[in-house]
Amino acid sequence: MATFKALVLAEREGKTVAAISTLDREALPAGEVTVRVAYSTLNYKDALAITGRGKIVRAFPMVPGIDFAGTVEESASPDFKPGDQVLLTGWGVGERHWGGLAEYARVKASWLTHLPAGLTPEQAMGFGTAGLTAALCVIALEEAGIAPSEREVVVTGATGGVGSVAVALLAQAGFNVTASTGRPAEADYLRQLGARQIIDRATLATPSKRPLESERWAGGIDTVGSETLAAVLRTTAYTGAVAACGLAGGTDLPTTVLPFILRGVRLLGVDSVMAPAGRRNAAWARLSRDFPAAALTQVTRTVSLAEVPALANPLLDGAVRGRLVVDLHS
Ligand SMILES: NC(=O)c1ccc[n+]([C@@H]2O[C@H](COP(=O)([O-])OP(=O)(O)OC[C@H]3O[C@@H](n4cnc5c(N)ncnc54)[C@H](OP(=O)(O)O)[C@@H]3O)[C@@H](O)[C@H]2O)c1
Repeated sequence: MATFKALVLAEREGKTVAAISTLDREALPAGEVTVRVAYSTLNYKDALAITGRGKIVRAFPMVPGIDFAGTVEESASPDFKPGDQVLLTGWGVGERHWGGLAEYARVKASWLTHLPAGLTPEQAMGFGTAGLTAALCVIALEEAGIAPSEREVVVTGATGGVGSVAVALLAQAGFNVTASTGRPAEADYLRQLGARQIIDRATLATPSKRPLESERWAGGIDTVGSETLAAVLRTTAYTGAVAACGLAGGTDLPTTVLPFILRGVRLLGVDSVMAPAGRRNAAWARLSRDFPAAALTQVTRTVSLAEVPALANPLLDGAVRGRLVVDLHS
């Protein structure tokens, strides 16, 4: 195919404008491997890029899409050959380098991962960056010695992409999961994923003057930041750990050192974009081995490329449940 369809972001009078365009294959950026994209996704970061509500795009025009899965068409790398099924998450793709919301992508070989055994390209994108991040958070908690017990582990932003996968993965591993959500109507969805308790987002988002409060959590996975992460830290039990990966509620952290120095609480930063291959492979293996297939179906909804621009604002406003997979065949 000499041309291909892509979602293209341009900047006009300081505003980001998104449109589906037909591009020449020659317009693809330099890279060792050309991939025919089968599925991509819409993550929080993609929505920030598409709407211009966050400064994600480094150079226009940009094809957004921080994830994709597909089949290698051309390769100058000995690590990949035509016909190989691959996936990509992160590495600045969709931010600095054209991304996955297109029928074709050309990237560095070192950014690609062979499709993990046991996953189809659509399932891999059901997880995407959000699922990978959730798995990295669970692994970080386990490495910090947090093991299943009767004490609860809290997941904030629970109905979101990272949150939904984290709830199901923790529940599958035997943790007593509490889901914090602003959407009480989704309580049944969260229980089906394995949450045993549901709490209202406002419980954790309300500021407090007290630097420490009653110990409740053995650990937590926080996708929200700001007052919510501060509340999780001041209610985490002695030597507990909290994996922080998100900013859906803000980038600030209004806390004190007391949870760390009086309770030995650990704050574990989790990044998926530049995560080294070893950690990525461990996280993908975990998702492929342990994540219940039925839960993945519940978590994902598949949409077409044409539907993507209209979904970006609702996603940022917390009105999209779980994961959005983008089918590039349709
Ligand atoms: N560190 C990394 O490598 C990495 C990777 C992926 C994502 N992230 C970050 O993780 C966060 C979640 O990503 P995602 O893809 O899961 O996004 P998402 O699907 O939009 O989920 C975010 C969830 O946060 C909650 N929320 C939204 N606005 C909020 C607000 N103002 N205050 C409190 N809660 C709010 C909502 O859940 P409820 O309605 O259930 O409360 C929403 O569904 C984002 O900040 C994203 O940038 C980081």
